[in-house]
Amino acid sequence: MNTTYASIKGLGFYVPETIVTNQDLTQHMDTSDAWIQERTGIKQRRYFTYGKDTNASMATAASRMALDRSQVDTKEVDLIVYATITPDYYFPGSAFLMQRELGLEGVGVIDIRNQCSGFVYALSIADQFIKTGMYKTILVVGSEIQSTFLNKSNEGRGVAVIFGDGAGAAVVQATTDPEHRILSTHLHADGRYAEELYVRDPGSSREGRWLTEETLSGGNYNVTMNGNAVFKHAVVRFAEVIQESLAANAYKPEDLALLVPHQANIRISEYVRQQMNLPEEKVFNNIQKYGNTTAASIPIALTEAYEEGRIKPGDLVCLAAFGSGFTWASALIKW
Ligand code: UT7
Repeated sequence: MNTTYASIKGLGFYVPETIVTNQDLTQHMDTSDAWIQERTGIKQRRYFTYGKDTNASMATAASRMALDRSQVDTKEVDLIVYATITPDYYFPGSAFLMQRELGLEGVGVIDIRNQCSGFVYALSIADQFIKTGMYKTILVVGSEIQSTFLNKSNEGRGVAVIFGDGAGAAVVQATTDPEHRILSTHLHADGRYAEELYVRDPGSSREGRWLTEETLSGGNYNVTMNGNAVFKHAVVRFAEVIQESLAANAYKPEDLALLVPHQANIRISEYVRQQMNLPEEKVFNNIQKYGNTTAASIPIALTEAYEEGRIKPGDLVCLAAFGSGFTWASALIKW
């Protein structure tokens, strides 16, 4: 009997057309192009256009590209796994809205709220559902509109300069070919650090009503981040979870053709690259163009890496993420 595995059949991404440069941000806060580039590697990011883009419409555009490139008919999709922390509505999740836009009524959807690790968690779920034989074709998406969540004043500058908007998608399909598949996924979390990177409000555990004048004036609906703590944990966990995926499959860092890390900060990726002793060309970076797009960053980066010919059949590719929760996760793929 043939064993069933999951493989990535095709990739797509969508970024909104409005480019916001570091220089543009200096109009709202005391920052500089030099500071942002030196501390993060970011040169510009994209912001959505109100009335044109929504979280779900961006995800739909990315998914359509991925389906097209996979030559998979939309009607073949049996499940949607959708990662975002910036959904269109408080509930239901944006997966429902994308399902509607794609005309996939009746198909199951799952929303994932694991911030920067969201896409790898979503991919892991798809991998498990396919390996058990429950589904054959799964759309895995990461989409974020973060530009409306940011405090674009001096007070919020440590956070606001990092994040951007965008979406990426992968079509994951069943295969019996053991040479081209997702080898394994590895998921971790540590809730002791939940408040190191979070949005407090609107939360349900409030006295009285969840949304009041007080919660609105408190400003806790903006992203709060202890950047230094996130940075310190990230560099350790990234390396750990990449090693874990390699060890689980009896590979070594030098066997990797490409590492596609979540685009958090170019200094984090560079630190991890050095720890793993990888040459520069084996670590993909596009944070310069898009900033940190949270759950969308890995599928956008993976799509661009593929488009640039950086991934070939048979290559060993590692996806790795770290983010709020804290969460960290990896996926090792034989392309
Ligand atoms: O995707 C997962 C989630 N997030 C992350 O992975 C982010 C991880 N953390 C980071 O990337 C970095 O911590 C940041 C980029 C957020 C900040 O860089 P940093 O090197 O850790 O800077 P810092 O927060 O230690 O601040 C250094 C200085 C401070 O001034 P003083 O106290 O030294 O006078 C800040 O006030 O830089 C100042 N600063 C800024 N200056 C200009 C903070 N933000 C800015 C800014 N422009 N945007």
